Amino acid sequence: MSTFAHIPVLVKETVEALAVQPGGRYIDCTLGAGGHAAAILEHSSPGGQLLGIDADPEAIKVAEAKLQAYSGSTLIINENFVNLQAICIKYDFQPVHGILFDLGLSSLQLDSNTRGFSFQHDASLDMRLSPSQEITAADIINTSSEAELARIIKTYGEEAYSRQIARRIVQERPIATTLQLVRVIERAVGGRRARIHPATKTFQALRIAVNHELGYLEAALKQAINLLGFEGRLVVISYHSLEDRIVKQLMQRESKDCICPPGTPICICGHTACLRLINKQVITPSPVEVQLNPRSRSAKLRAAERIITQDESYKVAEKLNFLVGGKASGWRRPALLKKLRIAFSLP
Ligand SMILES: C[S@@+](CC[C@H](N)C(=O)[O-])C[C@H]1O[C@@H](n2cnc3c(N)ncnc32)[C@H](O)[C@@H]1O
Repeated sequence: MSTFAHIPVLVKETVEALAVQPGGRYIDCTLGAGGHAAAILEHSSPGGQLLGIDADPEAIKVAEAKLQAYSGSTLIINENFVNLQAICIKYDFQPVHGILFDLGLSSLQLDSNTRGFSFQHDASLDMRLSPSQEITAADIINTSSEAELARIIKTYGEEAYSRQIARRIVQERPIATTLQLVRVIERAVGGRRARIHPATKTFQALRIAVNHELGYLEAALKQAINLLGFEGRLVVISYHSLEDRIVKQLMQRESKDCICPPGTPICICGHTACLRLINKQVITPSPVEVQLNPRSRSAKLRAAERIITQDESYKVAEKLNFLVGGKASGWRRPALLKKLRIAFSLP
């Protein structure tokens, strides 16, 4: 395991966006080294509870040590967040006041000289978040067709030289280690100068493919929305444009009452909003934070609040005998909010 510490990103902004409150119930879907979790537990005490999830057993060990002082209010699970809903049902942990995703990798993983995530350390081409996963980066590199490799590198790395890199990989494989792959990529792109290391995008692409990052993120975000109680907050910190696009599009779609294509004369989608955007603009780290922690430079934080969909409000209103002849019976808003909170069983 690496000796490098992970510095959590946008901690104050995360606690604010989650609107952490004493006694609240929160889920950290990407526990990592437990930095955000510690801040959430601190601000939710007394009485706060946190469910922390991470796919990486090494991260789990680090987080358990870090959060020892809060062991009575913390449940730590070594699982993939794609199973978020099942985990919450199994541990009876819903609805919740807030859910955090701090995506990507921690410094523990990036700086490890055995995991194969970084092109700066020589290691076997692994890149799995969990040893229980079957497919490694070496499997993809050494068994995929040239066309499939080019597709992965283009789609998940947005790499302009994807075809040249894929061709060279196929010519030079088998490739077993990170530095072998770096040399192959360098030969494929020739002496072209770039702002970033020529292997950056291919390594990102492989990591995304090995861990199904984009598909799992989209699936988990949808589950998260359903686990939030009324006025619960969803906060996501992403580190590259592919992740951020998924978060942005999902939050925007779920905050609209109609998602019919533009120009449709009358609404036929039947979609109703279940989120309200908290910050219209993304929140990014300050120059001071970036200077102190250069790895924070690409971070983008988006946040949304769970609102009640029209369907849900009708159901709740019915349950509360709130509708009189199909019309709201004129409660004042604070009274309605109180009833909804009770109906959605948040304390
Ligand atoms: C940027 S780190 C989180 C750091 C953490 N917020 C902290 O303060 O220490 C991202 C973590 O998410 C985990 N992770 C990424 N994808 C995951 C997934 N699909 N399921 C569970 N954990 C995942 C990684 O293993 C890593 O530990």
